[in-house]
Amino acid sequence: MSEKRTAPTVVLGVTGCIAAYKACELARECMRRGMRVKVVMTENATRFVGATTFRALTREPVAVGMWDEAAAPVQHVSLAEEADVLVIAPATANVIAKLACGRADDLLTTTALATEATLVLAPAMNVHMWRDEATQANLEALRARGAIVVPPESGELACGEVGEGRLAEVGDIADAVEAEARRSRDLEGSRIVVTAGPTLEPIDAVRHIGNRSSGKTGFRIAEEAARRGAAVTLVTGPTHLPDPFGVVTVRVTTALEMHAAVIEAAEDVHAVIATAAVSDFRPAAPQTGKVKKDAFPSAIALERNPDILAELGEAKGRRVLVGFAAETADVVAHAREKLAAKHLDLVVANDVSEPGLGFGADSNRVTLVTADGAEELPVMGKRALARVLLDRISPLLLPRG
Ligand code: PMT
Repeated sequence: MSEKRTAPTVVLGVTGCIAAYKACELARECMRRGMRVKVVMTENATRFVGATTFRALTREPVAVGMWDEAAAPVQHVSLAEEADVLVIAPATANVIAKLACGRADDLLTTTALATEATLVLAPAMNVHMWRDEATQANLEALRARGAIVVPPESGELACGEVGEGRLAEVGDIADAVEAEARRSRDLEGSRIVVTAGPTLEPIDAVRHIGNRSSGKTGFRIAEEAARRGAAVTLVTGPTHLPDPFGVVTVRVTTALEMHAAVIEAAEDVHAVIATAAVSDFRPAAPQTGKVKKDAFPSAIALERNPDILAELGEAKGRRVLVGFAAETADVVAHAREKLAAKHLDLVVANDVSEPGLGFGADSNRVTLVTADGAEELPVMGKRALARVLLDRISPLLLPRG
């Protein structure tokens, strides 16, 4: 880890499992790699390893109950804010189930719900519990929300059975934790503009031309970029989503308003990530009142809206420009055309022909298209997509400052 910055903080959650003693090794390994470790134990974990052991190892207070440390009156919030990464090792089937459904009935699960940090899970349990559909469904739900799962090893289990369920090697868990600790600050010093949502082009006082973009994709990218240290300005069309924490959110309605806001915000930034479904056309003569049904015209004259991303591409400078393309056929071919036409660095080509993907959905199936090739990603949640996309963009950003 970089010495010149303060050490990343790892909150290590320990649950009630025979492998709890290995969390001591994990704490030492993370500290050896230059990370600060703060331990949160469940009551059941204390039946397997004492809090005193962790306190001696980490030289930090160890939290068990919700109100342990008088110094931190709302401890789960202070731990949640301090965490660059939250790792739970071992993670029992019980805590995985509680996390999947958002339970918050002890300090560890409350901290997990309160933190923005990435969750790393290292499960350990009996092989039948591991294979149970409920456990696998809970893990899938958590992965879709961006959690990293370090799968258990196979071998002889404490219960005498043989199969998957042994806690993963400490080195493998520490690798995942260190990667997330790096990722949690890899955008520090960068300035990024994200566009999201639809634009609505007025026909009259109550009618408009619009589309089904919910803004979720752009909001998740803005949240993840801010979490990783970027100064983020989010320019969004109408959406029901609340302003993301730590992000400057500019709300607009029409393509013309989005154009003005983006050109201003993108003046001196490292990257622009344009997920917005910007309407290419607007009614040429929007009416101020509501046009009565009988007087409504059979055709509406339209005129072109400015292509915001293409305009940025004309004066690209050192900015990394990322476009999105929602296509229903020849997805990669169309994305390549946009990559060249708009002088982009990367186009996220998403196939919106499949029900349940893309507009308004919680998942996307995308292909990342650059001049060097195309990388097809599996269907993934929009938080997970935000992480992968920023992983690809981060190395492209020029030195910060
Ligand atoms: O918001 P969600 O519900 O999560 O849905 C996400 C999404 C489907 C809207 C998103 O993944 C997506 O595909 N957005 C792009 C929609 C689209 O069809 O873009 P386009 O092919 O019309 O434009 C290509 C690129 O140019 C886009 O980055 C767009 O923001 C930009 N553009 C387009 C037109 C215009 N006038 N100005 C622009 O900047």
